[in-house]
Amino acid sequence: MSSETTNPQQAERATTIFEKSVPGRRAFSPPATDVPETPIEDLLPGHARRAEAPGLPEIAEPEIVRHYNRMSKRNFDLDSGFYPLGSCTMKHNPKLHERLAALPGNARLHPAQRPEAAQGALELMWRLQNALGEVVGLPAVSLQPSAGSHGELAGVLLARAYHEDRGDTGRTRVLTPDTAHGTNPATVTMAGYEVVKVGTSPEGGVDIDDLREKADETIACLMLTNPNTLGLFDPNIEEITSIVDDCGAVSYYDGANLNAIMGVSRPGDMGFDIVHFNLHKSFTQPHGGGGPGAGPIAVSERIAPYLPTPVVVRREEGEPEYDLEFDRPKTIGRLRGFQGNYGVFVRSYAYICSLGAEGLREASEIAVLNANYLLARLKETAGEYLPVAFDRICGHEFVLSGAPMKSALGVRTVDLAKRMLDHGYHPPTVYFPLLVDEALLIEPTETETKETLDGFAEAVGEILAEAAKDPEILLQAPYTTPVRRLDEAAAAREPVVRQA
Ligand SMILES: Cc1ncc(COP(=O)(O)O)c(C=O)c1O
Repeated sequence: MSSETTNPQQAERATTIFEKSVPGRRAFSPPATDVPETPIEDLLPGHARRAEAPGLPEIAEPEIVRHYNRMSKRNFDLDSGFYPLGSCTMKHNPKLHERLAALPGNARLHPAQRPEAAQGALELMWRLQNALGEVVGLPAVSLQPSAGSHGELAGVLLARAYHEDRGDTGRTRVLTPDTAHGTNPATVTMAGYEVVKVGTSPEGGVDIDDLREKADETIACLMLTNPNTLGLFDPNIEEITSIVDDCGAVSYYDGANLNAIMGVSRPGDMGFDIVHFNLHKSFTQPHGGGGPGAGPIAVSERIAPYLPTPVVVRREEGEPEYDLEFDRPKTIGRLRGFQGNYGVFVRSYAYICSLGAEGLREASEIAVLNANYLLARLKETAGEYLPVAFDRICGHEFVLSGAPMKSALGVRTVDLAKRMLDHGYHPPTVYFPLLVDEALLIEPTETETKETLDGFAEAVGEILAEAAKDPEILLQAPYTTPVRRLDEAAAAREPVVRQA
């Protein structure tokens, strides 16, 4: 990736694993096989075989260990510091879950194992389905989608299957609020629908009049997250779902922000038919490097017949007790190979079991308390330059605007974010949601201490004081990271993702 490396020590360490490769060097020498060799021609057809060796690095084990260890230290991670990346729920992931996921019965289970020989895994999945259904107040769950956005796609396809099955084929459009996460309109487009934006009220919720005007017989679905990406719970939520219901459409709840409401309120009770979960957010699957994740969906009775197959079921009678059910004539079909990222299910199930219903509620309550506490502290240390965008009690996150900072001090939100790295903090989400100028979306989560939150609020105050003295300090930041400021436009438009 395009970057400017100024630290000489780091530059020296930048030697790649390919440059260290020496022909013939090996990390491991297996004993000679005592299994008769099968000629490769008998195993793979010609078109599937390589003409040349793949050109992998030839390197000793200690060098491999050092390479990956060094790489792991070049990034900012949750185990090193506070990571208030809004809309991403970077909460602590208990280490116990790793031990459970690594148990041989979990980690070494083959995905093509017959149900009879995988009863424990299927039981875990079945129990996880039930627990997730209870959290959102809906009766049927599929664990199959692999990410939040994949769950969204599943949800919109389910809405379509529901309408088509009733012969209602004139619905071509999907409502999404203008605060929506970018994946919502992207999903709508990918599913072949037209995006219809709904405005935001002065209080930061859905503009009810706009919604009423746009909710008609062409609408298949509303996609909404609540609390929304401003961190605000919509007080009109039941009116919103009933407007959608009145026009014959389905309400879809983007459950990525579930960390604010677990055990407190349930989308099913709010009138939603379909919900997706981000197990890699609220339910402690480590994330941030692009996976693996899981985006299960929960649905109401009327949507259940269309769920992706196979469905994990439990039989009252007959064998095997836990099974994969394929015979679902109205299904939208399979969404991925095998059943999903099973290790994620283990971690999330462990989380739910170790906290219990009361504990989940407490987690959400503390997430909301932490966000409101941090907001109050930031009003003290930074309120003059970074006012809150919508001044209400927030959910699990909140949005500040860097616009006054930009006009008074000549530094932008991105400059503040870069300087935070030098102070030992991962920056919040910046420039999202789009409707707030110079936005900073801050989500502290429930797993941070009061001292950490105080430290962050004070650091933001200190950075603003630095900017008031000499804005250049922020404009050139960061100084202490392995890689200095990136040319982000070049990194996005002309990424260099291969080693030479
Ligand atoms: C509100 C919201 N919806 C959907 C998603 C998409 O989830 P994923 O990144 O797992 O596809 C996110 C991800 O951060 C999100 O914050």
